[in-house]
Amino acid sequence: MSEKVFIFDTTLRDGEQVPGCKLNTAEKLALALRLEELGVDILEAGFPVSSPGDFDSVNQIAKALKNTVVCGLTRAVQKDIEVAAEALKPAKRSRIHTGIGTSDLHIKYKFNSTREEIIERAIKAVSLARNFTDDVEFYAEDAGRTDNEYLARVIEAVVKAGATTLNIPDTTGYCLPYQYQAKMEYLVNNVKGIEKAVLSCHCHNDLGLATANSIAGVMGGARQIECTINGLGERAGNTALEEVVMILNQHKDLGYYTHINPTLLNPISREVSEIMRMMVQPNKAIVGANAFSHSSGIHQDGFLKEAQTYEIINPAEVGAEDSKIVLTARSGRSALAFRLHKLGYEFMRNDIDALYNQFLEVADKMKEVKDSDLKTMADNYNKK
Ligand code: KIV
Ligand code: ZN
Repeated sequence: MSEKVFIFDTTLRDGEQVPGCKLNTAEKLALALRLEELGVDILEAGFPVSSPGDFDSVNQIAKALKNTVVCGLTRAVQKDIEVAAEALKPAKRSRIHTGIGTSDLHIKYKFNSTREEIIERAIKAVSLARNFTDDVEFYAEDAGRTDNEYLARVIEAVVKAGATTLNIPDTTGYCLPYQYQAKMEYLVNNVKGIEKAVLSCHCHNDLGLATANSIAGVMGGARQIECTINGLGERAGNTALEEVVMILNQHKDLGYYTHINPTLLNPISREVSEIMRMMVQPNKAIVGANAFSHSSGIHQDGFLKEAQTYEIINPAEVGAEDSKIVLTARSGRSALAFRLHKLGYEFMRNDIDALYNQFLEVADKMKEVKDSDLKTMADNYNKK
Protein backbone atom coordinates (compact mmCIF):
# COMPACT_ATOMS: atom_id res chain seq x y z
CA MET A 1 0.00 0.00 0.00
CA SER A 2 1.44 3.36 -0.93
CA GLU A 3 1.58 6.22 1.56
CA LYS A 4 0.54 9.83 1.07
CA VAL A 5 3.13 12.60 1.01
CA PHE A 6 1.60 15.97 1.92
CA ILE A 7 2.47 18.84 -0.39
CA PHE A 8 3.07 22.10 1.47
CA ASP A 9 3.27 24.94 -1.03
CA THR A 10 5.27 28.01 -0.04
CA THR A 11 5.25 29.88 -3.38
CA LEU A 12 3.42 32.77 -1.70
CA ARG A 13 5.87 32.96 1.21
CA ASP A 14 9.40 31.61 0.48
CA GLY A 15 8.78 32.04 -3.28
CA GLU A 16 7.56 35.59 -2.89
CA GLN A 17 10.76 36.50 -0.96
CA VAL A 18 12.63 36.53 -4.30
CA PRO A 19 13.54 40.11 -5.22
CA GLY A 20 11.08 41.39 -7.82
CA CYS A 21 8.48 38.68 -7.14
CA LYS A 22 6.37 40.58 -4.62
CA LEU A 23 2.64 40.19 -5.20
CA ASN A 24 -0.30 42.30 -4.09
CA THR A 25 -3.28 40.80 -2.25
CA ALA A 26 -5.41 40.31 -5.38
CA GLU A 27 -2.56 38.50 -7.16
CA LYS A 28 -1.87 36.31 -4.12
CA LEU A 29 -5.53 35.45 -3.75
CA ALA A 30 -5.85 34.48 -7.42
CA LEU A 31 -2.78 32.24 -7.16
CA ALA A 32 -3.97 30.69 -3.89
CA LEU A 33 -7.22 29.63 -5.57
CA ARG A 34 -5.24 28.04 -8.42
CA LEU A 35 -2.98 26.23 -5.95
CA GLU A 36 -6.04 24.84 -4.17
CA GLU A 37 -7.29 23.61 -7.55
CA LEU A 38 -3.89 22.02 -8.16
CA GLY A 39 -4.40 20.01 -4.98
CA VAL A 40 -1.82 21.31 -2.52
CA ASP A 41 -2.58 20.09 1.01
CA ILE A 42 -1.17 23.07 2.88
CA LEU A 43 -0.63 26.57 1.51
CA GLU A 44 1.75 28.93 3.29
CA ALA A 45 0.07 32.23 2.51
CA GLY A 46 2.60 34.60 4.03
CA PHE A 47 4.25 36.05 7.14
CA PRO A 48 1.40 38.10 8.68
CA VAL A 49 3.42 40.20 11.12
CA SER A 50 5.84 41.32 8.39
CA SER A 51 3.53 43.99 6.88
CA PRO A 52 -0.13 45.08 6.87
CA GLY A 53 -0.27 43.99 3.21
CA ASP A 54 0.88 40.47 4.04
CA PHE A 55 -1.56 40.29 6.97
CA ASP A 56 -4.36 41.22 4.59
CA SER A 57 -3.25 38.64 1.99
CA VAL A 58 -3.19 35.83 4.56
CA ASN A 59 -6.56 36.98 5.90
CA GLN A 60 -8.19 37.10 2.43
CA ILE A 61 -6.79 33.68 1.53
CA ALA A 62 -7.98 32.28 4.87
CA LYS A 63 -11.49 33.46 3.99
CA ALA A 64 -11.42 32.10 0.45
CA LEU A 65 -9.96 28.58 0.59
CA LYS A 66 -12.34 25.68 1.13
CA ASN A 67 -10.26 22.55 1.70
CA THR A 68 -6.62 23.53 1.82
CA VAL A 69 -4.98 24.20 5.18
CA VAL A 70 -3.94 27.86 5.24
CA CYS A 71 -0.67 28.47 7.03
CA GLY A 72 1.03 31.61 8.36
CA LEU A 73 4.72 31.92 9.21
CA THR A 74 5.98 33.35 12.48
CA ARG A 75 9.21 33.65 14.43
CA ALA A 76 9.22 32.21 17.94
CA VAL A 77 7.93 35.58 19.12
CA GLN A 78 4.65 36.19 20.99
CA LYS A 79 3.50 39.11 18.78
CA ASP A 80 4.18 37.16 15.55
CA ILE A 81 2.10 34.24 16.77
CA GLU A 82 -0.80 36.40 17.97
CA VAL A 83 -0.87 38.37 14.70
CA ALA A 84 -0.72 35.17 12.60
CA ALA A 85 -3.59 33.68 14.64
CA GLU A 86 -5.65 36.81 13.99
CA ALA A 87 -4.96 36.74 10.24
CA LEU A 88 -5.85 33.04 10.06
CA LYS A 89 -9.06 33.34 12.11
CA PRO A 90 -11.51 32.99 9.16
CA ALA A 91 -9.81 29.85 7.80
CA LYS A 92 -11.72 26.56 7.76
CA ARG A 93 -8.43 24.84 8.50
CA SER A 94 -5.47 26.86 9.76
CA ARG A 95 -1.87 26.16 10.71
CA ILE A 96 0.64 28.29 12.57
CA HIS A 97 4.23 27.72 11.42
CA THR A 98 6.60 28.85 14.13
CA GLY A 99 10.24 28.17 14.84
CA ILE A 100 13.77 29.28 15.58
CA GLY A 101 17.34 28.67 14.41
CA THR A 102 18.94 25.61 16.00
CA SER A 103 22.42 25.40 14.46
CA ASP A 104 25.30 26.62 16.63
CA LEU A 105 25.92 29.37 14.06
CA HIS A 106 22.37 30.67 14.39
CA ILE A 107 22.35 30.30 18.17
CA LYS A 108 25.59 32.26 18.56
CA TYR A 109 25.36 34.93 15.85
CA LYS A 110 21.63 35.45 15.35
CA PHE A 111 20.41 35.01 18.90
CA ASN A 112 23.53 35.46 21.07
CA SER A 113 21.97 32.66 23.09
CA THR A 114 22.58 29.13 24.32
CA ARG A 115 21.28 25.74 23.25
CA GLU A 116 19.18 25.43 26.45
CA GLU A 117 17.63 28.86 26.02
CA ILE A 118 16.68 28.06 22.41
CA ILE A 119 14.83 24.93 23.56
CA GLU A 120 12.91 27.03 26.10
CA ARG A 121 11.96 29.60 23.45
CA ALA A 122 10.84 26.84 21.06
CA ILE A 123 8.61 25.24 23.73
CA LYS A 124 7.08 28.62 24.62
CA ALA A 125 6.31 29.43 20.98
CA VAL A 126 4.68 26.07 20.27
CA SER A 127 2.64 26.16 23.51
CA LEU A 128 1.39 29.65 22.71
CA ALA A 129 0.50 28.69 19.12
CA ARG A 130 -1.45 25.68 20.39
CA ASN A 131 -3.81 28.09 22.19
CA PHE A 132 -5.02 29.23 18.75
CA THR A 133 -5.04 26.05 16.68
CA ASP A 134 -4.34 22.36 17.14
CA ASP A 135 -2.34 22.37 13.88
CA VAL A 136 1.09 23.74 14.76
CA GLU A 137 4.22 23.26 12.67
CA PHE A 138 7.63 23.87 14.19
CA TYR A 139 10.70 24.71 12.06
CA ALA A 140 14.23 24.19 13.32
CA GLU A 141 15.92 26.72 11.05
CA ASP A 142 19.28 25.56 9.66
CA ALA A 143 18.50 22.02 10.80
CA GLY A 144 20.68 20.88 7.88
CA ARG A 145 23.72 22.15 9.80
CA THR A 146 22.40 21.35 13.28
CA ASP A 147 24.06 18.50 15.10
CA ASN A 148 21.63 15.57 15.12
CA GLU A 149 21.79 14.86 18.84
CA TYR A 150 20.84 18.42 19.77
CA LEU A 151 18.24 18.60 16.98
CA ALA A 152 16.58 15.47 18.41
CA ARG A 153 16.38 17.17 21.84
CA VAL A 154 14.74 20.27 20.33
CA ILE A 155 12.29 18.18 18.34
CA GLU A 156 11.37 15.99 21.30
CA ALA A 157 10.68 19.11 23.38
CA VAL A 158 8.39 20.69 20.78
CA VAL A 159 6.50 17.44 20.17
CA LYS A 160 5.83 17.35 23.92
CA ALA A 161 4.65 20.98 23.73
CA GLY A 162 2.13 20.06 21.02
CA ALA A 163 3.80 20.49 17.61
CA THR A 164 2.03 18.33 15.04
CA THR A 165 4.39 18.87 12.08
CA LEU A 166 8.16 19.03 12.40
CA ASN A 167 9.95 20.99 9.70
CA ILE A 168 13.63 20.09 9.29
CA PRO A 169 14.86 22.82 6.92
CA ASP A 170 18.10 22.57 5.04
CA THR A 171 17.99 26.35 5.07
CA THR A 172 21.32 26.84 3.29
CA GLY A 173 21.02 23.91 0.87
CA TYR A 174 24.15 22.37 2.38
CA CYS A 175 23.25 18.71 2.93
CA LEU A 176 23.95 15.82 0.61
CA PRO A 177 20.96 13.52 0.01
CA TYR A 178 22.35 10.67 2.14
CA GLN A 179 23.01 13.10 5.01
CA TYR A 180 19.51 14.57 4.85
CA GLN A 181 17.98 11.09 4.75
CA ALA A 182 20.15 10.03 7.71
CA LYS A 183 18.99 13.12 9.65
CA MET A 184 15.35 12.11 9.19
CA GLU A 185 16.15 8.51 10.16
CA TYR A 186 17.99 9.71 13.26
CA LEU A 187 14.93 11.69 14.36
CA VAL A 188 12.57 8.78 13.64
CA ASN A 189 14.76 6.49 15.75
CA ASN A 190 15.69 8.84 18.58
CA VAL A 191 12.78 11.19 19.32
CA LYS A 192 10.20 9.96 21.82
CA GLY A 193 6.65 10.62 20.55
CA ILE A 194 7.72 11.34 16.96
CA GLU A 195 5.00 9.01 15.66
CA LYS A 196 2.42 11.61 16.79
CA ALA A 197 3.75 14.16 14.27
CA VAL A 198 4.61 14.48 10.58
CA LEU A 199 8.23 15.14 9.61
CA SER A 200 8.64 17.72 6.84
CA CYS A 201 11.36 18.45 4.27
CA HIS A 202 12.15 22.10 3.48
CA CYS A 203 15.16 22.15 1.18
CA HIS A 204 16.95 25.03 -0.49
CA ASN A 205 18.79 24.67 -3.77
CA ASP A 206 22.17 26.31 -3.13
CA LEU A 207 24.00 23.23 -4.45
CA GLY A 208 21.24 22.15 -6.85
CA LEU A 209 20.19 19.37 -4.47
CA ALA A 210 16.83 20.59 -3.16
CA THR A 211 14.75 18.06 -5.08
CA ALA A 212 17.11 15.14 -4.43
CA ASN A 213 17.26 16.03 -0.73
CA SER A 214 13.47 16.22 -0.43
CA ILE A 215 13.06 12.77 -1.95
CA ALA A 216 15.84 11.45 0.30
CA GLY A 217 14.04 13.02 3.28
CA VAL A 218 10.85 11.15 2.40
CA MET A 219 12.84 7.93 2.11
CA GLY A 220 14.19 8.70 5.59
CA GLY A 221 10.70 9.01 7.09
CA ALA A 222 9.33 12.47 6.21
CA ARG A 223 5.75 12.64 4.91
CA GLN A 224 5.54 16.29 3.91
CA ILE A 225 7.51 18.24 1.31
CA GLU A 226 7.67 22.04 1.32
CA CYS A 227 8.10 23.37 -2.18
CA THR A 228 7.30 26.12 -4.65
CA ILE A 229 6.11 26.34 -8.24
CA ASN A 230 9.12 26.64 -10.58
CA GLY A 231 11.42 26.18 -7.55
CA LEU A 232 11.20 29.89 -6.68
CA GLY A 233 12.60 30.92 -3.32
CA GLU A 234 15.42 32.61 -1.45
CA ARG A 235 18.77 32.69 -3.30
CA ALA A 236 18.93 29.59 -5.55
CA GLY A 237 15.36 28.73 -4.62
CA ASN A 238 13.39 25.96 -2.94
CA THR A 239 12.45 22.44 -3.99
CA ALA A 240 10.35 22.62 -7.18
CA LEU A 241 6.83 21.29 -6.58
CA GLU A 242 6.49 19.95 -10.12
CA GLU A 243 9.72 17.96 -9.77
CA VAL A 244 8.98 16.15 -6.50
CA VAL A 245 5.41 15.42 -7.55
CA MET A 246 6.50 13.86 -10.84
CA ILE A 247 9.34 11.90 -9.22
CA LEU A 248 6.90 10.27 -6.80
CA ASN A 249 4.48 9.78 -9.68
CA GLN A 250 7.04 8.18 -11.99
CA HIS A 251 8.70 6.04 -9.32
CA LYS A 252 5.62 4.28 -7.97
CA ASP A 253 8.07 1.63 -6.75
CA LEU A 254 9.02 4.04 -3.94
CA GLY A 255 5.49 3.61 -2.58
CA TYR A 256 4.29 7.22 -2.22
CA TYR A 257 1.61 9.38 -3.79
CA THR A 258 0.42 13.00 -3.63
CA HIS A 259 -2.95 14.64 -4.26
CA ILE A 260 -1.61 16.98 -6.94
CA ASN A 261 -3.35 17.05 -10.33
CA PRO A 262 -0.30 16.84 -12.66
CA THR A 263 -2.19 18.13 -15.71
CA LEU A 264 -2.25 21.58 -14.07
CA LEU A 265 1.52 21.72 -13.54
CA ASN A 266 2.42 23.49 -16.79
CA PRO A 267 -0.50 25.96 -16.79
CA ILE A 268 0.28 26.98 -13.19
CA SER A 269 3.99 27.23 -13.91
CA ARG A 270 3.23 29.70 -16.71
CA GLU A 271 0.85 31.70 -14.53
CA VAL A 272 3.41 31.97 -11.71
CA SER A 273 6.12 32.94 -14.17
CA GLU A 274 3.94 35.70 -15.64
CA ILE A 275 2.54 37.06 -12.40
CA MET A 276 5.96 37.05 -10.68
CA ARG A 277 7.77 38.18 -13.84
CA MET A 278 10.33 35.39 -13.40
CA MET A 279 11.25 33.52 -16.55
CA VAL A 280 11.48 29.71 -16.33
CA GLN A 281 14.80 28.41 -17.65
CA PRO A 282 14.12 26.53 -20.93
CA ASN A 283 15.85 23.36 -19.72
CA LYS A 284 13.86 23.24 -16.46
CA ALA A 285 12.48 19.75 -15.73
CA ILE A 286 8.73 19.25 -16.37
CA VAL A 287 7.86 22.90 -17.11
CA GLY A 288 10.75 24.31 -19.19
CA ALA A 289 10.13 25.24 -22.85
CA ASN A 290 12.58 22.49 -23.92
CA ALA A 291 11.37 19.79 -21.51
CA PHE A 292 9.66 17.99 -24.41
CA SER A 293 11.77 19.21 -27.36
CA HIS A 294 14.04 16.93 -29.36
CA SER A 295 16.75 18.42 -31.54
CA SER A 296 19.53 15.92 -32.24
CA GLY A 297 19.18 13.47 -35.14
CA ILE A 298 19.77 10.37 -33.00
CA HIS A 299 17.08 11.36 -30.48
CA GLN A 300 14.62 12.54 -33.12
CA ASP A 301 14.89 9.30 -35.08
CA GLY A 302 14.23 7.22 -31.93
CA PHE A 303 11.44 9.50 -30.73
CA LEU A 304 9.64 9.38 -34.09
CA LYS A 305 9.77 5.57 -34.06
CA GLU A 306 8.54 5.33 -30.46
CA ALA A 307 8.15 8.36 -28.15
CA GLN A 308 9.11 6.40 -25.03
CA THR A 309 12.66 5.94 -26.35
CA TYR A 310 13.40 9.52 -25.33
CA GLU A 311 10.47 10.63 -23.16
CA ILE A 312 9.68 9.27 -19.72
CA ILE A 313 6.60 11.49 -19.35
CA ASN A 314 3.88 12.15 -21.92
CA PRO A 315 3.60 15.98 -22.11
CA ALA A 316 -0.20 15.77 -21.83
CA GLU A 317 0.21 14.17 -18.38
CA VAL A 318 1.71 17.42 -17.07
CA GLY A 319 -0.38 19.79 -19.16
CA ALA A 320 2.47 20.68 -21.53
CA GLU A 321 2.17 21.32 -25.27
CA ASP A 322 2.89 18.41 -27.61
CA SER A 323 6.50 17.29 -27.95
CA LYS A 324 8.50 19.31 -30.45
CA ILE A 325 10.88 18.23 -33.16
CA VAL A 326 13.24 21.18 -33.44
CA LEU A 327 15.32 21.45 -36.60
CA THR A 328 18.98 22.39 -36.19
CA ALA A 329 22.19 21.43 -37.96
CA ARG A 330 22.28 18.38 -35.66
CA SER A 331 18.90 17.08 -36.90
CA GLY A 332 18.52 14.11 -39.20
CA ARG A 333 16.53 13.12 -42.29
CA SER A 334 13.60 11.59 -40.38
CA ALA A 335 13.07 14.84 -38.49
CA LEU A 336 13.17 16.84 -41.71
CA ALA A 337 10.67 14.48 -43.38
CA PHE A 338 8.43 14.65 -40.29
CA ARG A 339 8.37 18.44 -40.20
CA LEU A 340 7.76 18.67 -43.97
CA HIS A 341 4.92 16.17 -43.61
CA LYS A 342 3.40 18.33 -40.86
CA LEU A 343 3.44 21.25 -43.31
CA GLY A 344 1.63 19.14 -45.90
CA TYR A 345 4.58 18.13 -48.11
CA GLU A 346 5.15 14.50 -49.07
CA PHE A 347 8.54 13.60 -50.57
CA MET A 348 10.13 10.31 -51.62
CA ARG A 349 13.27 9.14 -49.88
CA ASN A 350 15.52 10.37 -52.77
CA ASP A 351 13.96 13.82 -52.59
CA ILE A 352 14.48 13.96 -48.84
CA ASP A 353 18.17 13.12 -49.38
CA ALA A 354 18.48 16.01 -51.82
CA LEU A 355 16.52 18.38 -49.61
CA TYR A 356 18.57 17.34 -46.58
CA ASN A 357 21.78 18.65 -48.18
CA GLN A 358 20.10 22.00 -48.80
CA PHE A 359 18.69 21.91 -45.29
CA LEU A 360 22.16 21.44 -43.76
CA GLU A 361 23.50 24.46 -45.65
CA VAL A 362 20.70 26.60 -44.25
CA ALA A 363 20.88 25.04 -40.77
CA ASP A 364 24.61 25.67 -40.44
CA LYS A 365 23.92 29.39 -40.82
CA MET A 366 21.13 29.62 -38.23
CA LYS A 367 20.32 28.40 -34.74
CA GLU A 368 17.02 26.83 -35.76
CA VAL A 369 15.30 26.17 -39.08
CA LYS A 370 11.72 27.41 -38.96
CA ASP A 371 8.56 26.48 -40.89
CA SER A 372 8.94 29.51 -43.19
CA ASP A 373 12.47 28.33 -44.20
CA LEU A 374 11.17 24.81 -44.83
CA LYS A 375 8.33 26.07 -47.00
CA THR A 376 10.71 28.12 -49.14
CA MET A 377 13.00 25.11 -49.50
CA ALA A 378 10.19 22.69 -50.38
CA ASP A 379 8.46 25.09 -52.83
CA ASN A 380 11.72 25.83 -54.67
CA TYR A 381 12.45 22.11 -54.86
CA ASN A 382 9.00 21.39 -56.30
CA LYS A 383 9.49 24.10 -58.96
CA LYS A 384 12.62 22.35 -60.31
O1 KIV B 1 14.55 28.00 4.87
C1 KIV B 1 14.05 28.06 6.01
O2 KIV B 1 14.60 27.63 7.00
C2 KIV B 1 12.73 28.68 6.12
C3 KIV B 1 12.04 28.62 7.46
C4 KIV B 1 11.53 29.95 7.85
C5 KIV B 1 11.00 27.56 7.42
O3 KIV B 1 12.18 29.16 5.15
ZN1 ZN C 1 13.10 28.45 3.29
